[in-house]
Amino acid sequence: MRIVLIGPPGAGKGTQCQRLVDLLKVPHLSTGEMLRAEVRGRTPAGIEASSYMDQGQLVPDQIIVGMVSRRLQAPDCRTGCLLDGFPRTLIQAETLDDLLERRAMSVDGVIELAVPRDELVRRMLARKREDDDPEVFSKRIASFEVQTAPLLDYYTGQGKLASIDGLGTADEIFERVRAAVKRFERAAWTR
Ligand code: AP5
Ligand code: MG
Repeated sequence: MRIVLIGPPGAGKGTQCQRLVDLLKVPHLSTGEMLRAEVRGRTPAGIEASSYMDQGQLVPDQIIVGMVSRRLQAPDCRTGCLLDGFPRTLIQAETLDDLLERRAMSVDGVIELAVPRDELVRRMLARKREDDDPEVFSKRIASFEVQTAPLLDYYTGQGKLASIDGLGTADEIFERVRAAVKRFERAAWTR
């Protein structure tokens, strides 16, 4: 299964992916985590990326696409993966479809975690990651609304979107995620 998780900052993408890793036994690819590792390692990509991340802006595609493309070619991604934080723009979504198509693969399903803004802010204030400064967080939410939300229509058009209420305990939400994965599995069998 190749599953994409979409949601605003703090929606619980990483939290639900940790649970999905155990269920599906496929790797969790978080572009945010990959970028933070590059930043910690002070690599050229990390140094360039940090200037965008610190401002709550998207990192340029030339950094992201190469990073994801290399990761998708690793042997552990052969049977599937969880994509968390990628794609984030229509161009990235089209690039992902092309990358997978070249290997006769495709996205099996997309999960949207819908969470209202006041709850996102509450979660952010309780967490405190480097980019969880309130001003930067507002910019990350705006970036989601402008650049990423259009992907919901893109994947609805492909018949792949499952929109899930992201309010409740992490376990309650995981039950909804599991039900969506079951639907993706049924759809994949009939394809
Ligand atoms: P990224 O790391 O992807 O951050 P994000 O999308 O802003 O999302 P978060 O990781 O903050 O939230 P999450 O949805 O994973 O929620 P979590 O499970 O942690 O990206 C960071 C930056 O990298 C971007 O701003 C951009 O600059 C760059 N970037 C990344 N990908 C890119 C791309 N493709 N293109 C360009 N740039 C890119 O949960 C949040 C908190 O809430 C946690 O503390 C958690 O414990 C808690 N929580 C989770 N679930 C619940 C619940 N049900 N109830 C209460 N609390 C909960
Ligand atoms: Mg995350």
